[in-house]
Amino acid sequence: MSEANGSDAADQPTSEKLVELAKRRGYFFQSSGAYGGVGGFYTFGPQGASLKGNVEDAWRDRFAVAEGNMEIDAPTIMPEPVFEASGHLEGFDDMLVECPECGESHRADHVVEDNTSYEDAESLPIPEVEEVIAEYELVCPSCGAGLADQAVETFNLMFDTNIGPGDSQPGYLRPETAQGIFVEFPRLKEYARNQLPFGVTQIGRAYRNEISPRRSIIRTREFTQAELEYFVDPETDEPPLERVADVEVRLYPVGEQNDEDGSEIETTIGDAVEEGVIADEWVAYFLGVAKPWYEAVGVDMDRFRFRQHLSGERAHYAADCWDAESEIDGNWIEMAGFANRTDYDLSKHEEYSEDRFTVFKQYDEPKTVERATVDPDMSYLGPEFGGAAQEVVSELETLAERDRSAFEGETVEIELEGESHELPVEKTGFSVDEETIAGEHVTPHVIEPSFGVDRVVYTVLHHAYSEDEVDGEERTYLELDPEVAPTFVGVFPLQSDDELEAVANDVVDDLRKAGLSVTYDDSGNIGRRYRRQDEVGTPFCVTIDYETVEAEETTVTVRERDSTEQKRLAVDDLAETLAAIRNGDREFEAL
Ligand code: GAP
Repeated sequence: MSEANGSDAADQPTSEKLVELAKRRGYFFQSSGAYGGVGGFYTFGPQGASLKGNVEDAWRDRFAVAEGNMEIDAPTIMPEPVFEASGHLEGFDDMLVECPECGESHRADHVVEDNTSYEDAESLPIPEVEEVIAEYELVCPSCGAGLADQAVETFNLMFDTNIGPGDSQPGYLRPETAQGIFVEFPRLKEYARNQLPFGVTQIGRAYRNEISPRRSIIRTREFTQAELEYFVDPETDEPPLERVADVEVRLYPVGEQNDEDGSEIETTIGDAVEEGVIADEWVAYFLGVAKPWYEAVGVDMDRFRFRQHLSGERAHYAADCWDAESEIDGNWIEMAGFANRTDYDLSKHEEYSEDRFTVFKQYDEPKTVERATVDPDMSYLGPEFGGAAQEVVSELETLAERDRSAFEGETVEIELEGESHELPVEKTGFSVDEETIAGEHVTPHVIEPSFGVDRVVYTVLHHAYSEDEVDGEERTYLELDPEVAPTFVGVFPLQSDDELEAVANDVVDDLRKAGLSVTYDDSGNIGRRYRRQDEVGTPFCVTIDYETVEAEETTVTVRERDSTEQKRLAVDDLAETLAAIRNGDREFEAL
């Protein structure tokens, strides 16, 4: 991509120019502008909604259809017990520091990271963050007042609401689409005929009351996630790594991040697994699926990497996590996380709900196993323990399952409310018997590729943003991939003329029938119309001129966006040729 140089505009970061273009051309803009706007909420305009829809469709094709996974669409509001179980009520917090002068709230870890050499302040305990703020005499990013004496507090990011009138049923807007999948697991496993592994996807809105939303659609309070929850048997299921073994990746593992001289590693998925750089094979598999997908939707691979989470950075549920990151004006932003969530979520929902979050795994052959059980003498336990007798029974049952050697002596010791008690073994009815079982209940582990759609859209636009000079005039254009460009072709009659307009309308009809997304534009001079389409990233423009209607063979001018090269093509073949280019079967240069 060429960059203009020498002018003031050239010194302006691409992000600033992109945000201006996005608003002017209908990609995205802050919502509720008529009421002063509200931080962290954005509306996708006609171009943006179309681009975002195309990115979502491309994601669905790859992660649901091509992988054979199911897709669901769950509500965005869920009742409180869901988030008690998931741990979000307790631990989905950010660190907040409030300015004593202007009252503005800021993320304390961001204030530290933006003004010191700390790179991972999120993982520091609160007292340490307070110390760093005081030591570096950090100030409010909005008004410059000192923050040294301010307390840093935790702030839960979930938006709360009440379900129905009154406040008897508190609810929350989901902070991740994933919980909508986990809570439905007891039904979803039936649809998968109780066979592991299987995957469930969901594309939908998530909500986080971010302390300081920033950088337009990169950090908002309402955004779209595309998530896959892939349920596996940790003992037996293995990913089809051979399908992605040759995918080349740039990795930034923890070891390299912690090493002063550390750097990113260029390798393949196969080698990274073999050398232990990526320890989790399932995570490696999905990194291998994701990399070509990002490339196909237009992320610049020179500004793309996978970075492993440092231990303090990992979410409360994750055993290992890698992020897909893109470079934006010299900064790396997280576009997706690939985590091994283990059995954390399903076990929690099993514990907190009344349903079963396991899969029954049938053995090929029934197995004979030894089972230790107790059958306590209640005529002894009753008088000895009174109301606590039933608790003693469950303690004995758990102990028999866990440690049968505890019953080898004359007495057995149990703990009851912190106090230890001894019972004669003969009163416990302890025995070990043989039992034939057909299978076992397994709690699946979850591998989760979690994509932020808005950040993909932002990256694709940012990486597509280009400037050059055409016929002595500066030009801005978006080098969008045809797969995601909101409009594939613009059709223009050269001038306001009934004959030209009639042909142009026929061309529009033909192209639309061929399944192409088309815009018709007859306003302003032709150069201006080209510039307009260049700025929204339309790959081709077709102009109907006097040669079209006067020459023996009906031809039109087709102009390619990036090269601005023009060719004359026969109208009869136009739809077929452009559809073939759109599908990647033909190339414009070769016509
Ligand atoms: N279910 C896992 C999960 O939600 P996450 O890393 O918190 O993991 C996944 O979020 C992705 O969602 C991120 O990689 C990012 O692309 C996107 N995302 C998270 N917070 C966001 C925000 N405030 N604004 C826009 N996108 C966000």
